[in-house]
Amino acid sequence: MKLSFSFLLLSCILLVFSAEAQKKKPTTAANPEQAMNAFVRDLMAKMTLEEKIGQLNLVSVGFDVTGPIVSQNVEENIRKGLVGGVFNTFTPVAVRKLQELAVKQTRLHIPLLFGYDVVHGHKTILPIPLGLAATWDMAAIERSARIAAEESSADGLNWVYSPMVDIARDPRWGRIAEGSGEDTWYGAQVAKAMVKGYQENDLARDNTVMACVKHFALYGAAEAGRDYNTVDMSLQRMFQEYLPPYKAAIDAGVGSVMTSFNEINGVPATANPWLLNDLLRKQWGFKGLVVTDYTAINELVAHGIGKNEYEVGQQALAAGSDMDMVGEVYLKNLGKLVKDGKLSTAQIDAACQRVLEAKYKLGLFTDPYRYANEKRAKATILKKAFISDARDIARKSMVLLKNEKNVLPLKKSGTIALIGPLARNQRDMIGNWSAAGDWKRAVSVEQGIKTVTGGKVNIAYAKGANFTDDTLLIRRLNAHGGELKIDKRAPEEMIQEAVKVALTADVVVAVVGESQGMTGEAASRADIGLPGRQLDLLKALKQTGKPLVVVLMNGRPLTLPWEQNNADAILETWFAGTEAGNAIADVLFGDYNPSGKITATFPQVVGQVPIYYSHKTTGRPYGGELLDKYKSRYLDVSNEPLFPFGFGLSYTTFNYSKPQLNKTTFRPNEPVEVKVDVKNTGNFDGEEVVQLYIQDLVGSVTRPVKELKNFQKIFLKKGETRTVTFKITSEDLKFYNNQLQYGYEPGDFKVFVGTNSRDVQEVGFTLTE
Ligand code: BGC
Repeated sequence: MKLSFSFLLLSCILLVFSAEAQKKKPTTAANPEQAMNAFVRDLMAKMTLEEKIGQLNLVSVGFDVTGPIVSQNVEENIRKGLVGGVFNTFTPVAVRKLQELAVKQTRLHIPLLFGYDVVHGHKTILPIPLGLAATWDMAAIERSARIAAEESSADGLNWVYSPMVDIARDPRWGRIAEGSGEDTWYGAQVAKAMVKGYQENDLARDNTVMACVKHFALYGAAEAGRDYNTVDMSLQRMFQEYLPPYKAAIDAGVGSVMTSFNEINGVPATANPWLLNDLLRKQWGFKGLVVTDYTAINELVAHGIGKNEYEVGQQALAAGSDMDMVGEVYLKNLGKLVKDGKLSTAQIDAACQRVLEAKYKLGLFTDPYRYANEKRAKATILKKAFISDARDIARKSMVLLKNEKNVLPLKKSGTIALIGPLARNQRDMIGNWSAAGDWKRAVSVEQGIKTVTGGKVNIAYAKGANFTDDTLLIRRLNAHGGELKIDKRAPEEMIQEAVKVALTADVVVAVVGESQGMTGEAASRADIGLPGRQLDLLKALKQTGKPLVVVLMNGRPLTLPWEQNNADAILETWFAGTEAGNAIADVLFGDYNPSGKITATFPQVVGQVPIYYSHKTTGRPYGGELLDKYKSRYLDVSNEPLFPFGFGLSYTTFNYSKPQLNKTTFRPNEPVEVKVDVKNTGNFDGEEVVQLYIQDLVGSVTRPVKELKNFQKIFLKKGETRTVTFKITSEDLKFYNNQLQYGYEPGDFKVFVGTNSRDVQEVGFTLTE
């Protein structure tokens, strides 16, 4: 009796509790936005104008500066409520210290945002973004962002300046390394995957971070590939080819946007009301925070759109830039601008509100220290699962560009001559923008070979060449963490030593390329061949008659005509991250069969740049008519790239059947089905990226020769055949006409399916009215 009474009591209590919970649920769950609005409104009602302006001030503490100014009086300004966020500071201890200043010592206890350039990993460094893109594996790309989020969020950070989604078709531009290459549709897929990995659609969790899509907009289209240079582009091209990846990030819920350094058709992005207020906010419905790039407001004076910081500060805020990165233009000028009637308090309020909302969404008002968690940092950072995922993702990013007579994979026996400035190197493995990554933790190629072969291979090493012998360039690179160790011997002496070493070996593995600082920001190159004397080194090694395997590390497409003609194998490995050496050795010795494909065209010579697969036909397309002068072509080089977009080999071979359509005439809204049989015809199991391109043959505006619209990465055992099915909908056929209307036009289309953008088979269909 007693028992059943207590049971009854317990049931009643549970009932009351769940009724309470039911009651509360609708108010909190159905209206989280209202709750946030009310909170932010109440807080802002207590804030002075100065405190609101303080929220718009983003300061840099510490190192890794990308411009001339480092913030001054940071601690004092935090105490005064004049700082909204800090970047370049991490670790739970350092973050807690600054957060305490904000939370305990300011009048309104508003916590700080903590941002950082976590671009391809935080401590566990993944391949550079151009390498990640080459995986064609969205799950792997999302995973890379997830690993970065787990580590950085435990290490004090709540905001990462990634993904960088700038379409880049000019490999002279050093920042091509930071994005996913030349293709619009593909870039949009990567953008979505990255945002998902960082934010997981739930910023309230303590292991997610706010992503920041950058650089808005069109930064990758800088004239002549020179960083920060002018961008001038038709609206049609902008909307069709350059804007979709940013839009994809917005649609995926990215919390913040960073403005770009460049001007767009005469108006710098950071002070461009059309770009930020009209397009981003009104048209696309972006509700988050817009931060400028590093001192980008100050630089508006140099751009020549205002006489002084007072004038350009007004323009930037009015245009929709909320937070001023490092430049302190807002801090110094907004108060006066309001007093002078040049800006309204409502404009300041709108920007401040967006900063506070970001903090609210991140849960900082509930627990300002939730991201600075020493225990979690210890358990998370560089944990085993991350390291093994990093190795796997790195292997997937590698692209086999050539493999004559199956020189690869190598046998785990005999002697390898391991030669080149990157063979024993650790610093460059983690690439540019490697954030908090510790290069001393990175696995060199030499170490990777030892580990993967279990010491069964003899390694004969020679450096062979410096990256460059240009002392000024070396000084410049080393001033920014390059760690270039220069061998003082004459280049000829180094080459001779390498040749001697090569003669003792069964095969030569030359690990050559760029030093990481030759890629990334402010690292444009006018000549994009192998730097320094590395090509001379390869030529000398070739003379030995030994099989020559070239392992490349670089952050951009390089011009490699000699290498393509003369090396027996070429493996593109980008800068593969913490596990670089292990991953490279896995591929070299066949423990992993390469499956990566390039996402930026490799030109034959730099004069072909910009070069990209989805070009237009022109009125005089060149079709191989050698004696016909008046064609769109060069006199001294063909129009063909060295390696086309989507190219990459495997240790096995794949055979494609001719693609089949379910019908050849379709009505709009009726999906087109394309089927192709892919067979693994070689001697290894392997993965293949089956690519689908479309051409709209006649349009009211000219259309590209091909556009990627879908792909599938499949695994086939040797001998296995798989039917791959794609659906094309009218959505895939849409484009912007010259009135900027987005839609499809009935007519004839070609569908191409194949292993890269060049080697395809085609079928056609008609879309009726
Ligand atoms: C770069 C951004 C970066 C920022 C902060 C700038 O120079 O353009 O990509 O996020 O610095 O480090």
